[in-house]
Amino acid sequence: MASVTPDSEEIKNASTLLKAGQLVAFPTETVYGLGADASNADALARLYRVKGRPDTHPVIVHLASVDMLEKWAKTVPDEAYKLAEKLWPGPMTLILKKASHVSDAVSGGQDTVGLRIPSHPVALELLKEFGSGVAAPSANRHGKVSPTSAAHVKEELGDLVAKILDGGSCSVGIESTIIDLSGQERRILRPGMITIEEIEKILGKKKGKAKAKPEEVVPRAPGTLSSHYAPSTSLKLFSSSNLGRALATAENLSMKVAVMSFREPITCSVVVTWRQLPDNADEYARVLYSTLRELDDQGADYIIAEEPPQEAAWSGILDRLRRAANG
Ligand code: TXA
Ligand code: MG
Repeated sequence: MASVTPDSEEIKNASTLLKAGQLVAFPTETVYGLGADASNADALARLYRVKGRPDTHPVIVHLASVDMLEKWAKTVPDEAYKLAEKLWPGPMTLILKKASHVSDAVSGGQDTVGLRIPSHPVALELLKEFGSGVAAPSANRHGKVSPTSAAHVKEELGDLVAKILDGGSCSVGIESTIIDLSGQERRILRPGMITIEEIEKILGKKKGKAKAKPEEVVPRAPGTLSSHYAPSTSLKLFSSSNLGRALATAENLSMKVAVMSFREPITCSVVVTWRQLPDNADEYARVLYSTLRELDDQGADYIIAEEPPQEAAWSGILDRLRRAANG
């Protein structure tokens, strides 16, 4: 589907709406964000209301450039600048000690703030035009699958937002990697398509550690509840070797299933839809959420998903599939 990129006039108007305390959904390279002026208490209250999000959950503040970091963070460690130089604009969020003006509505009452410079040209232009921090969680209802197209946002939030900027399909497809640099030791709070290996290449390995494993990711971010990112239809994860058994079980139970697998479709009476997914992690991530939405609409009793490889490149995807399976 061809999408029309918003022109400068449309982006200026969107920025004016943000300044007036309105909500603007905009594309980023990861997923669509639901933007609000991060310095405006009323706008943040509206944001939480529309998302249906508990107010103890912090939101990421999106910035146009690295020189704005010091306005939003109390201290910016060297490691932050090193990562920023290599990975921003891009799918990475840094957690730093917050500056004193950052409100509890942004920080979730913690003494830290999440900051990110997205690379999508529409997001960057909007942020430049706006000139300050834009708080933006993913533009979905709390606990649901994140939107990767303007149509997804429309479906989910419709008239509740003042404006939806359409920047086409998101090129990364899952949310940013969150790296906490606010404490003694750096920690990955949410895995994404920027892997631990890439981070280690820039910062070196953590002291006293052999190679970091994907399991070392600590899901400590307050918003990373285990039931996040879930379709309404329940999802069950199976290893490749158990896929056949999973289908046989569905047959025994007379269940209808929708399948997402690396394999070519198998003809089987219980399967209502079979989506063969790419065996390349970047390509898989790009279609993951739209596939979940599509399979959610098939009237299946449940979704069967084949587990991806246990490799660093897949850790963000595996994380989202596990959360979807917990929904
Ligand atoms: O890719 C992304 O990060 C997208 C796009 C729109 O930028 N945004 C996104 O936002 O995924 P959201 O709100 O759906 O998820 C933000 C996550 C939550 O798990 C939240 O708990 C965590 O970031 N987070 C934000 N600020 C934090 C902080 N100060 N400390 C710990 N975790 C934080
Ligand atoms: Mg989200």
